[in-house]
Amino acid sequence: MSETAQLKIGDKTYDLPVIEGTENEKALDISKLRDLTGYITLDIGYKNTGATKSAITFLDGEQGILKYRGYPIEQLAEKSTFIEVAYLLIYGKLPTTEQLDKFQFEINRHTLVHEDMKKFFDGFPSKSHPMGQLSSLIGALAAFNPESLEPGLSAEIVDLEIHKLIAKMSTIVSWIYKKSLGHPVNYPKNKFDYVTNFMYMTFSQPTEQYEINPVVISAMNKLLILHADHEQNCSASTVRIVGSSDANLYASISAGISALWGPLHGGANQAVIEMLEQIKEDGGDTDKWINKAKDKNDPFRLMGFGHRVYKNFDPRAKIIKKACDDILENLGVQDEVLEIAKRLEEVALKDPYFVERKLYPNVDFYSGIIYRALGFPTDMFTVLFALGRLPGWIAQWKEMKENKEPIGRPRQIYTGATDLDYNDISSR
Ligand code: ACO
Repeated sequence: MSETAQLKIGDKTYDLPVIEGTENEKALDISKLRDLTGYITLDIGYKNTGATKSAITFLDGEQGILKYRGYPIEQLAEKSTFIEVAYLLIYGKLPTTEQLDKFQFEINRHTLVHEDMKKFFDGFPSKSHPMGQLSSLIGALAAFNPESLEPGLSAEIVDLEIHKLIAKMSTIVSWIYKKSLGHPVNYPKNKFDYVTNFMYMTFSQPTEQYEINPVVISAMNKLLILHADHEQNCSASTVRIVGSSDANLYASISAGISALWGPLHGGANQAVIEMLEQIKEDGGDTDKWINKAKDKNDPFRLMGFGHRVYKNFDPRAKIIKKACDDILENLGVQDEVLEIAKRLEEVALKDPYFVERKLYPNVDFYSGIIYRALGFPTDMFTVLFALGRLPGWIAQWKEMKENKEPIGRPRQIYTGATDLDYNDISSR
């Protein structure tokens, strides 16, 4: 017999079915709660609330485990490529050679963006934040792909939109960067694989021969893989909830990009480097900044530390820390902020404040240092996170559609005024 939990309200007892996932995590099914009892649950910030059943990503925050479609992140980061992981997340299985070639081919066919979209780039102020540009440009893609607006899209059209979005995202991200420098944009070269094409468009100059560095391409693949999905986080939940209203794929992903922008989410990678720079300029006294982070009267938080779900360690941070050492050594880059980051980590990991609250470095603590070494400016970091997270968002959107999930619509407990009578403005 399946397990149930019992809920007692007043003198009545209600049975709540217990749901069990494939990794043995358990949930109380309260979907009939309001109908049966008239009560709702309250869980501000969704710390205990499962919003969906999902077969995409599993993470165990207590044990520091992360798997995409059952495959450990450590294996994927070491052996796979970003585009293969994108296929895995979106279609559920690792591709055969033929499937992977076809996927890459279909994406490559769509790397050009409509020439009229260039006018958008011209319209943004030159110093406007790349994330603001990215969310607008991805939203604008819906206007250039009106077939995506039809309700009840066939699987073929959904696949077409997915290929277009993955392809155009990399062109758009590289063009945002080029425009920020006032440099001419580079058109994609479809003989390259996805990541090489992106790096080529981003860093090649019409004046010079672009040398492909396999170490750089491999580091970039790794970073994008590590960011590719993270189950029901703020941006993925945003994508699902916007998509649940039947909004098109581009609008849903554009909303996810906006959610990612915040410094408590993807924006943390930019905030980490800014913080490390600030500490460096202040003389590099890490103890002083650790104390600031602990001081409840000081709004400063140690950026890149802590995670809503990981309360042991973030497995991505472990991989990135190692990759960071490797790439800096390989490129011969000496970065003082890396030394500050290491010192901060060492001090924080021994400090009772951080230990008691289970605050560990997260994925963003070291990623920015690698992005810097590769030549990206700080305000591009969150855009790179978005480039990596795109397959995850698409997979979440597709799964939500395939599961025919109803429109997302939370409830609330009303705490406002009651029964006021309208009085004329002259008597207020
Ligand atoms: N520095 C100092 N104290 C912290 C930090 C930090 N980075 N993170 C959490 N704390 C403290 C809080 O002040 C709180 O202390 P209290 O119990 O004495 O009040 C306790 O730890 C719990 O913190 P919450 O904010 O309740 O934890 P929550 O799970 O809601 O937040 C979050 C997680 C947002 C990631 C938080 O740790 C944080 O702000 N970190 C810095 C920003 C960051 O790195 N974000 C990236 C997250 S990873 C990602 O999105 C890819």
